[in-house]
Amino acid sequence: MKKLVLATHNRDKVREISALLSDLGVEVLSLDAFPRIGPIAEDSGTLEGNALLKANAVGRSTGLPALADDTGLEVHSLYGEPGVYSSRYSGEHATYAENVSKLMDAMKSFPPRRRAARFRCSLAFVAPGIGSRTVEGICRGSILEKPRGTGGFGYDPVFLPKGFDRTLAEMDLSLKNTLSHRALAMREILPILREYFK
Ligand code: IMP
Repeated sequence: MKKLVLATHNRDKVREISALLSDLGVEVLSLDAFPRIGPIAEDSGTLEGNALLKANAVGRSTGLPALADDTGLEVHSLYGEPGVYSSRYSGEHATYAENVSKLMDAMKSFPPRRRAARFRCSLAFVAPGIGSRTVEGICRGSILEKPRGTGGFGYDPVFLPKGFDRTLAEMDLSLKNTLSHRALAMREILPILREYFK
């Protein structure tokens, strides 16, 4: 079976992406299968640049096709923050809960009309023979005043997608995977993957 490496150790991302790749007919591996690959600096300053850095580094080290995701939460009233720094918003090794708590603090005086936000996901696919391809998916919504729900990960409990009355953390994976930034980006990249692996 052909192999595809997801350039991440993040089990939450692996779970979501693997579900979206289930009918591709390839073996999906994460970086956990390659313990010799150390941390990859995500220092390009953009989501797309970081996704490319990760996919290129993993493609080079493994010799296998690699897919990388870099995602940011962009809050309109915070001028796009935390954006590319979403995973380190509250410090270098911040937990999801610490990042959410910092966001709640930063937004505590904002009324509902100033709570618009979006998730933006960049995906980069790097494979021998085709170079690199990047795509993007955006999910618009707003930030709640308090977390709701226990599913999903990261900022999901405080993110209400536009047109829904449930946060991403109150949805099951199959619903999140129809509307999320990552699902929309995967919809763009799937034809490229199908062509490559056919
Ligand atoms: P990175 O793409 O690994 O840099 O992750 C950015 C950060 O954004 C993660 O640590 C999570 O906190 C958050 N994040 C990424 N994807 C999602 C998602 O689908 N829902 C909620 N938060 C997310």
